[in-house]
Amino acid sequence: MKNLVIVGFGGMGSYHVELVGAASGITVTGVYDVAPDRVAAAEQKGLPTYTSFEAVLADEEVDAILIATPNDSHKDLAMQALEAGKHVVCEKPVTITSADLEAILAVAKTANRTFMVHQNRRWDSDFLIVRDMVQKEAQIGNVFHIESRVQGANGIPGDWRHLKAQGGGMVLDWGVHLLDQLLFMTDSPIKSVSANLSFILGDEVDDGFTSFITFESGVTALIEVGTTNYVKLPRWYVKGTEAPR
Ligand SMILES: NC(=O)c1ccc[n+]([C@@H]2O[C@H](COP(=O)([O-])OP(=O)(O)OC[C@H]3O[C@@H](n4cnc5c(N)ncnc54)[C@H](O)[C@@H]3O)[C@@H](O)[C@H]2O)c1
Repeated sequence: MKNLVIVGFGGMGSYHVELVGAASGITVTGVYDVAPDRVAAAEQKGLPTYTSFEAVLADEEVDAILIATPNDSHKDLAMQALEAGKHVVCEKPVTITSADLEAILAVAKTANRTFMVHQNRRWDSDFLIVRDMVQKEAQIGNVFHIESRVQGANGIPGDWRHLKAQGGGMVLDWGVHLLDQLLFMTDSPIKSVSANLSFILGDEVDDGFTSFITFESGVTALIEVGTTNYVKLPRWYVKGTEAPR
């Protein structure tokens, strides 16, 4: 049995407690959060809490930590945990820059500890259907164009997602899921990328974007996230060389 501590007990951290509860071989043995109300919420659920991150790292009973804090804090928390000999599961977006991720991976290698990212939307049933269409040419022949959208009209959610310094904005939110799904079903290198970010709501971060990607195979893709779409387009629109079977 592996002992896991959740760092950040907000929306996603508290959800992880339920998910881990259904998995075998892992027990959530504690929670650490900087906000007193979230510490109280964890204690109400009967979860032990820590008073500092250092206390989590110093606890030899802890095998792994799960990072579910705002995006800008992932790098430092992950590096410290790996250096302290803990395995790490980190929420997406793993880091704000690829250089930060490379720094984490170097530490994980030296420490001989596992570092993984929670890209949970690789298991979404709608995505798996589209991936089969693309990879197995099963339904519409040779797929040559993929459109993937998440749209809504509720604006940017929460508090820190409005702030650039905390890694806010929709590219780093839903955008990361949609781009990850696209790359996970396409084995060709990317030839070109362009994007238009939208700032309709007046935030300092993007409230949505449209990105156009061309792969060296010739396949093209359009990825779109919107938070001011009162009428939504379909989640997927995929074009192939044959009529649907
Ligand atoms: N995989 C998914 O589908 C998914 C869904 C939602 C959020 N997320 C990711 O999860 C992370 C958290 O998002 P959220 O929606 O739960 O945010 P949230 O604001 O609801 O929760 C964040 C929590 O982290 C705490 N916190 C902040 N700094 C901390 C620190 N240094 N140490 C310990 N605790 C700290 C806050 O007090 C808060 O309770 C983000 O990276 C987000 O992108 C992923």
